Amino acid sequence: MTQIRRIAVNTGGGDAPGLNAVIRAIVLSAEQLGWEVYGILDGYNGLFRDEGVIRLDRKAVRGITHLGGTILGTTNRGNPAKWPVVAADGTVTHEDRTQEVVDAIKARDIDVLIAIGGDGSLGIANLLSQKGLAVIGVPKTIDNDLAATTLTFGFTTAVETATEALGKLHSTAEAHERVMVVELMGRTAGWISLFAGIAATADVILIPEIPYDLDSVCAKIERRYTSGSEFAIVVVAEGAFPKGGTPLFKQKTGGQARLGGIGKMVADQISERTGRESRELVLGHLQRGGGPNAYDRLLALRFGAAAVRIAAQGTFGTMVALDPPLVLAVPLADAVAKIKTVPLDGDIIQTARSLGICLGD
Ligand code: F6P
Repeated sequence: MTQIRRIAVNTGGGDAPGLNAVIRAIVLSAEQLGWEVYGILDGYNGLFRDEGVIRLDRKAVRGITHLGGTILGTTNRGNPAKWPVVAADGTVTHEDRTQEVVDAIKARDIDVLIAIGGDGSLGIANLLSQKGLAVIGVPKTIDNDLAATTLTFGFTTAVETATEALGKLHSTAEAHERVMVVELMGRTAGWISLFAGIAATADVILIPEIPYDLDSVCAKIERRYTSGSEFAIVVVAEGAFPKGGTPLFKQKTGGQARLGGIGKMVADQISERTGRESRELVLGHLQRGGGPNAYDRLLALRFGAAAVRIAAQGTFGTMVALDPPLVLAVPLADAVAKIKTVPLDGDIIQTARSLGICLGD
């Protein structure tokens, strides 16, 4: 194996609280081994412009552990494996430019890439690894939907933000005797909605893993109103959909498809069916904003330090993963092979049911 002298790190996909903590841990751990660290700006885009790759030393990462966002910038557009090419007549085709990414990294004498990302970015990292680049992935997403790791950093911070928001809605819901319907992020997985909904004592939680029946939702709301609690909190994951239906999208073309709109639909339907006044709220990017909580800071620092240890061992084509109490290396291909959804036979679903929360079925 060649001696490692220079490594690069990038952040891709939607940001998640804890990205900066991972970057700092990588820089500090690598410096102890005498390696130089470089940061690629804006996903892989920085590779293709002069000032797009910056030196990261101890000074560059001072005081960033607690900061949200990413000092490297990120993007969830312009996937180099499916690069959009617009013809003169306006038709769009896609081409694979991953070899250009590999060549650009090698041209800069980078020995190892540490790619911090979700399933999309790590899918690209996996392709780069198959093309011979020494790659290690670090799992990031507030959605917690990456397979092969128990948790991704950013998730518990998003859950905390959502829980606080749901908690605050109780008083106004009660004051007006309203049904408050809150749409939370999570793409095709219900992790954020389920965790925050249970923690915030929601009455109904609708997740993509359990297609819902509106009759059952409305019956639960009616039971609440007639049993003395004349308000209700309904959590709807952005990817939830009714039995026999499909998820709602705000935008399907022109980049990554964006889910959205189900919260308003559910709120309107509840009002129509029950006659109870309802309001909807889309919590949106607040769930990604701000700094990481203590747990996510620590997880991010552990992931960054582990990525450098795994690089030093030469175990490439892998992703660092939390397998409590360990942080270990798993094959990147396994991590991106499928999305991790909420298991229906798990304790968290059973807990919701034991508490009398309606899951829409
Ligand atoms: O994957 C993270 C996430 O926040 C999802 O929960 C959400 O569907 C999506 O990103 C939103 O993406 P964008 O930032 O492009 O609106």
